[in-house]
Amino acid sequence: MSNIAVVTGATGGLGKAFVAELLKEEIDEIWAVARSEDKLGALCKQYGERIVPVICDLSNESEVKKLRGLLEEKKPNILFLINNAGMAKMGKIIDFSDDEISNTIETNCKTPVLLCQYAIPYMSAGARILNISSASSFQPNPYIALYSATKVFLRSYSRSLNYELQEKGIVSTAVCPGWIDTGMLKSEQNGKRIRFPGLVSPERVVTKALKDAKKGKDMSVCSLFVKYEHVCSKIYPQKWIMHIWGKGVKKYVED
Ligand SMILES: NC(=O)c1ccc[n+]([C@@H]2O[C@H](COP(=O)([O-])OP(=O)(O)OC[C@H]3O[C@@H](n4cnc5c(N)ncnc54)[C@H](OP(=O)(O)O)[C@@H]3O)[C@@H](O)[C@H]2O)c1
Repeated sequence: MSNIAVVTGATGGLGKAFVAELLKEEIDEIWAVARSEDKLGALCKQYGERIVPVICDLSNESEVKKLRGLLEEKKPNILFLINNAGMAKMGKIIDFSDDEISNTIETNCKTPVLLCQYAIPYMSAGARILNISSASSFQPNPYIALYSATKVFLRSYSRSLNYELQEKGIVSTAVCPGWIDTGMLKSEQNGKRIRFPGLVSPERVVTKALKDAKKGKDMSVCSLFVKYEHVCSKIYPQKWIMHIWGKGVKKYVED
């Protein structure tokens, strides 16, 4: 039986950093999940034959079910499930299309839950699930309202799952990073340059997340800056923080 890790969004900034770090573990295969065949091909070329490319649109339930089929066929021993793929868009929620709304909710919320359902039967004590939430789950964030709400869902779900899995010895960790230097961040919007305070590298987030998951923590918060944000979200009224955020971001979404 092969020991494997499943990493969704494996070709993006954070996903690729997870792949690079997991290759240091005693893992036979890393199932790298994403949509772009070209990017997956490049990943295999860079990291070699332990990478198993899985082309799958995680916003499409019937494609996600193919992953369940693959697990049923191969019956691997899953050591890590990294629910990392996510969709984000900045803007006024009223301007979002129906498709953007449903694809974001499917990719960021429903699919990670389905993948946990499918993966857990192939996990044993010591296995780790990492659900990539965000510091934007600490309070409501106007102009990334939908993204932020999906990350609240994922953090809450992940922590409850951890509680329920304790008797199996499986740990589920909600990873809550602040801004990470990846392709997800646009350098400008509406001709205005966007600032990302506290920006960190994907490698730093991954190292901390895996360390916390191995310690059995149900939440991983990387960097002093994000820890400070987390504490502020607990002690100050959320209305205040939301107002500061909303004022800061509004200029990027208005023409
Ligand atoms: N960057 C940040 O500042 C930041 C901060 C906090 C949390 N996060 C979270 O970290 C995670 C990774 O983000 P990132 O910054 O690494 O993003 P990224 O560089 O844009 O990478 C996104 C990855 O997800 C894949 N993906 C996107 N939609 C998909 C879909 N429908 N089906 C399958 N794969 C899909 C992409 O590949 P394809 O396009 O080929 O499918 C790519 O591999 C996300 O959950 C994000 O919300 C990011």
